[in-house]
Amino acid sequence: MKTLAEHAAECEARLRAAGLSFGHGTDNARDEAAWLASFAAGIAPGDFAGRADLPADAACAARLARLTEKRIAMRMPAAYLIKEAWFAGRRFYVDRRAAVPRSHLGEWIADGLRPWLAKPPRKILDLCTGSGCIGIALAGVFPEARVTLSDVSAAALAVAEENVRRHQLAKRVRTLRCDLFDGLGGAAFDLIAANPPYVNARAMAGLPAEYLREPALALAGGEDGTDFLARILHGARRYLTGGGNLIVEAGGARGALERRFPRTPFTWLATSAADGEGAVFLLGAADLDAL
Ligand SMILES: C[S@@+](CC[C@H](N)C(=O)[O-])C[C@H]1O[C@@H](n2cnc3c(N)ncnc32)[C@H](O)[C@@H]1O
Repeated sequence: MKTLAEHAAECEARLRAAGLSFGHGTDNARDEAAWLASFAAGIAPGDFAGRADLPADAACAARLARLTEKRIAMRMPAAYLIKEAWFAGRRFYVDRRAAVPRSHLGEWIADGLRPWLAKPPRKILDLCTGSGCIGIALAGVFPEARVTLSDVSAAALAVAEENVRRHQLAKRVRTLRCDLFDGLGGAAFDLIAANPPYVNARAMAGLPAEYLREPALALAGGEDGTDFLARILHGARRYLTGGGNLIVEAGGARGALERRFPRTPFTWLATSAADGEGAVFLLGAADLDAL
């Protein structure tokens, strides 16, 4: 009987040879194969290394072969095939109604956004929530917080609601359909987090097939990618408490954003992403007063 590692290596070779695009939870064929193999074996991806040398039974091998086939033939992100994604150490349900969770914000959430917040936030808004992953992960690290997950897409919010249910957070996490801040009423938040659409028009025109499986609404950020980012910057102050903070992923639109807001004192947080694609910025409420 082959080991799980041997099956994963075969999957990796096939993914590599197929010339797929990665970027929906992994950024290379090896990690994607380990993720699929873990799912096929019924374990979390984080447990793959510890189980890799154990034999994989025929059912596991057959599941992995089917997933590999579909991943290649359909150019479908793995997360949509297996209906789950891992974000900030937590498992989320996902389907094609919502973007695949992968924001680099997750790298900071796991550690409670240390050292950036003076105190734990009591009221949190996750704007452009999609599957709800950011707000739900924040609810996990800040157990006293009440969290609003908002999105303009009712379809995405249905996925977020499923995740609220699965994480048993209905008592303090709610969903709200809003066009960015329109519809929030007079609420004020200690922390606003957002991973808005920020792909510019040129990049949208050349997206690999995998990205076309996601809702276009989740990605398209206007001509230079800054349409939603600018609306968030202009709108956020009114919805932040005095000592509140705004944390946003701007991804590849970072340069365009800095050109559009040359006097805004962005603090750019380091992430694992190469070439600025994971660019995440933080601003305090006072930084937004000058806009
Ligand atoms: C890049 S996805 C991020 C989803 C999720 N936060 C994540 O990190 O996986 C952007 C989200 O913005 C939402 N969106 C697009 N336009 C919006 C608008 N005008 N108001 C609120 N949300 C919007 C999309 O529906 C999508 O869920």
